[in-house]
Amino acid sequence: MTVLVTGARGQLGAAVCAQLAAAGQRYTAMASSDLDIGDGAAVANTVASGSYAAIINCAAYTAVDKAESEPEAAYRVNRDGAENLAAAAKRAGIPLLHVSTDYVFDGSKTSAYQPSDATAPLGVYGASKLAGEQAIAASGCRYLIVRTAWVFGEHGNNFVKTMLRLGAERDQLGVVADQVGSPTYTGDLAAVLIAAAQKMSAGSCAELDNQLHHYGGTPSCSWHHFAGAIFASAVAVGVLAKAPLVNAITTADYPTPARRPAYSILPHQPLTDLLGLAEPSWQRGLQQVLATTR
Ligand SMILES: NC(=O)c1ccc[n+]([C@@H]2O[C@H](COP(=O)([O-])OP(=O)(O)OC[C@H]3O[C@@H](n4cnc5c(N)ncnc54)[C@H](OP(=O)(O)O)[C@@H]3O)[C@@H](O)[C@H]2O)c1
Repeated sequence: MTVLVTGARGQLGAAVCAQLAAAGQRYTAMASSDLDIGDGAAVANTVASGSYAAIINCAAYTAVDKAESEPEAAYRVNRDGAENLAAAAKRAGIPLLHVSTDYVFDGSKTSAYQPSDATAPLGVYGASKLAGEQAIAASGCRYLIVRTAWVFGEHGNNFVKTMLRLGAERDQLGVVADQVGSPTYTGDLAAVLIAAAQKMSAGSCAELDNQLHHYGGTPSCSWHHFAGAIFASAVAVGVLAKAPLVNAITTADYPTPARRPAYSILPHQPLTDLLGLAEPSWQRGLQQVLATTR
């Protein structure tokens, strides 16, 4: 089975490729410079000219704040790119595994978000990702959409890397305490996508085919709590000499161009059970990231 991985140089794409390589599985890694998913003809040619068993789409426009001022760019990748991949997957008769986001919700719930919950994106990024989901669902291809949240890993930029940098520079910092979510380690999410791709390319699978699932790390926490855990773990393993003081601030204290959901807890069930995978503990993922930082 050869898997086509798009967005292969992003934080998730790199994790997917690393796991496929470690497992000795065949894959073709396409970074944005190799394949622009917003280019329909290029996507069609690439998929038609390879003999792929599945596509794992890790490509996305992820600049949440910048998207507010350049919606065309966000929609070109997150909606049109998803649509292009879905059309090519349909023509090739292969499944498309696609990743979406908690930002399709407004965060007004007070219990974990389920795939059946009403969407109401607060900004352009979430709206463009939702449009991508809808384009895939309408395409007629075989697909699995996995919504995830608060992604971090060894590759690329993320909250953990930012905290480690700031922690080395400052004695104290303010971190938002009134947003609660599910930090998700790229290695866990990559394992889900690869296991699902294997299952779907082996034959029809009612629990995965044309389904929308949620997958967030556990336990849920605030950014403030997550930052405290990052610093405590970094000191414990010698990545930081000393933990800075982490002051709890509010979303209002830290204004950003795009609004973010205040509450975006995503469960990892039933996906973990369906695929026979372990619970996605972000503490374990954090240890993995710190191990490569030393
Ligand atoms: N990061 C999070 O916290 C988070 C939360 C929820 C959901 N997600 C979703 O998780 C998935 C993976 O995100 P990530 O965190 O790995 O993001 P990332 O690190 O920003 O990676 C996204 C990748 O997509 C590539 N890309 C951008 N435009 C492209 C295009 N037109 N054609 C092909 N590739 C393109 C980027 O390449 P360049 O860098 O070269 O532009 C980058 O390598 C995305 O679907 C995202 O929406 C992320």
